[in-house]
Amino acid sequence: MRLIIRGGTVVDPVRGRMYPSDILIDGERVAAVEKRVQARGARVLDAKGKLVLPGLFDMHVHLREPGQEYKETVATGTKAAMRGGFTAVAAMPNTAPVTDTPEVIRYVLEKARDAGYARVYPVGAITRGSRGDELSEMGALREAGAVAYSDDGRPVVSAAVMRRAMEYARMLGVPVISHCEDLTLAGGGVMHEGFTSTRLGLRGIPAAAEEVMVARDIILAELTGCHLHIAHVSTAGAVRLIREAKARGVRVTAEVTPHHFTLTEQAVEGFNTLAKVNPPLRTAADVAALREGLADGTIDVIATDHAPHAAHEKEAEFDAAAFGLVGLETAVGLVFTELVATGVLDIPAVAAKMSLNPARILGLPAGVIEPGAVADLTVIDPEATEIVDPASFASKGKNTPFGGYRLTGLPYATVVGGKVYIRDR
Ligand code: DOR
Repeated sequence: MRLIIRGGTVVDPVRGRMYPSDILIDGERVAAVEKRVQARGARVLDAKGKLVLPGLFDMHVHLREPGQEYKETVATGTKAAMRGGFTAVAAMPNTAPVTDTPEVIRYVLEKARDAGYARVYPVGAITRGSRGDELSEMGALREAGAVAYSDDGRPVVSAAVMRRAMEYARMLGVPVISHCEDLTLAGGGVMHEGFTSTRLGLRGIPAAAEEVMVARDIILAELTGCHLHIAHVSTAGAVRLIREAKARGVRVTAEVTPHHFTLTEQAVEGFNTLAKVNPPLRTAADVAALREGLADGTIDVIATDHAPHAAHEKEAEFDAAAFGLVGLETAVGLVFTELVATGVLDIPAVAAKMSLNPARILGLPAGVIEPGAVADLTVIDPEATEIVDPASFASKGKNTPFGGYRLTGLPYATVVGGKVYIRDR
């Protein structure tokens, strides 16, 4: 099967530029990137007025399978990914059972192959059951296909265990992705500690709960030489620590979510459980610092932390409601509306933070459009507008605080290995 993507603007995050070009895809690979491609009998996708990016890659997604299929499955999650413009996702290991054995890795990969939507790269657990005390079979997980290690959802409480994990991860040549949270400081809190938490009478999680752990893990990355990737950065202090560490040459990278660069603690007003997430939504000053970190390169990646939950888990009193929100189907719109339209990022920088950088961090051959590359592409219509309607999501999770938001700049088509998915409206 041959496919021509005709008349779009190709985005090149490596050289930081954009140029008009056709793209010819033959089977699973890009065959040509030329001004005017002719190929008789090829299917044509009209991309006039649209941007063609290397396939977007969300390196922080909860697919919930095995074990919590009522929240999401590999099939529904990867379909949501494609609808959101993502050609690949990294799947976090806090499933039931936890992804701490090669069998679970293989199970997830098999489910992804059967589903046939976005590609899935499993993240293996750092510790058995993500309980924090005994290391998982890290080498065996790597052999089975793990692209990184994380106990995401919880911190690795023991610095000594984290040190050993980093030593092994370094030998195996893959990053450790750290969920930075000091549980003693977080103190069972349910939102950001500050003015709003005091007014609402809710227990707060101070910014320091994140920053103490970011500092610790940077020190351990320095000690071990391991590549440390910091998940879901939410505070100005964390951005500052990462900036300083990078300047010293520490191997650290970091990601931010669309909800953390868009919303503040005020979204929780009215006890809105859809805005209950860990780490919590912070202050306007934190949002400004996250945007600055994106703009100056301190933050390498935009990832969603897509965390689907069932309706009954969110329709509860605030203290009892689950942490997390879905992100796959609103990420592109939020990035274009909140960051591109406001001048925080240009479009090649978006392609870097949502495609090239995640692929590089995980050591995967993606992020570029050139002859011979696998044909994973995301076509974005920068002019298309929608009002977010959670009922239209392909994800089982409808738990978003962005329902009713007007977003401009939306995925139009997602191409995985030459197969085209056109987004419904
Ligand atoms: O809000 C969150 N939800 N934060 C996490 O770290 C985990 C996630 C989940 O798995 O639901």
